[in-house]
Amino acid sequence: MNQTQPYISCRGISKTYHKGKTLVTPLKDLNLDVAQGEFLALMGPSGSGKTTLLNLIAGIDQPSSGQLHVGGIDLTQTNRGELARWRARHCGYIFQLYHLVPILTAYENIELPLLLNPSLSRTDRKAKIQAALRLVGLEDRAEHRPTELSGGQEQRVAIARAIVADPGLLVADEPTGDLDRDASEQILELLRSLAADHSKTIIMVTHDAHAAESAHRVLHLEKGQLIRHNERRKSKPMEEYSAK
Ligand SMILES: Nc1ncnc2c1ncn2[C@@H]1O[C@H](COP(=O)(O)OP(=O)(O)O)[C@@H](O)[C@H]1O
Ligand SMILES: [Mg+2]
Repeated sequence: MNQTQPYISCRGISKTYHKGKTLVTPLKDLNLDVAQGEFLALMGPSGSGKTTLLNLIAGIDQPSSGQLHVGGIDLTQTNRGELARWRARHCGYIFQLYHLVPILTAYENIELPLLLNPSLSRTDRKAKIQAALRLVGLEDRAEHRPTELSGGQEQRVAIARAIVADPGLLVADEPTGDLDRDASEQILELLRSLAADHSKTIIMVTHDAHAAESAHRVLHLEKGQLIRHNERRKSKPMEEYSAK
């Protein structure tokens, strides 16, 4: 991929859904560029299309029209099978309610995305899982099931699962929406360091203006388009983040 190109490029993106006989168009002629290693927060009222946009960028769904490139790949020219394979390698998804598999341990939950890659040996998988557990600070919780973890710990396991296959892109849909302030801070710090120290490109939907301040840039979805409410953009110098 050409490093001078944005990691994500949306050009004139629209998305229309059929809801019974009516058409809903949450995204209308939307443009967005996101640099590699940028941490972008996305805000906007409920129903404004935030999850729709994340799903397009994550290759879960496709735009009705417009151009969408992620990591040099044209996601509008990719069929569903190819999209699923692309997603497994290049995109980690983090949800508000973690979506861990309850009968599996933390270790086994983190292992799931690696099982999609048959060329990885059990030993390779173990090394990657242990590195991911170390990164989220949960080495000592590997054998715990989700019910034996706090919400903040569950979300850290979910982040370990999202990064274990080393994707370039992380999308997070209200990742701190169900957490108290302290647990939220830990998650936000982790996301900041993933952008700063690991060059992950991160798009985070949040309703919390304080959480959004962790990002380099905050955009609001309104009437299908992205609007920047204030022009203050944290420069990308990463010392500010990595020093913490
Ligand atoms: N799969 C779908 N089928 C039909 N309508 C949908 C679908 N997904 C989202 N929508 C509609 O698109 C609009 C935006 O939804 P969404 O992206 O979930 O908003 P947000 O995440 O900002 O709350 C809503 O009107 C929603 O009902
Ligand atoms: Mg949503």
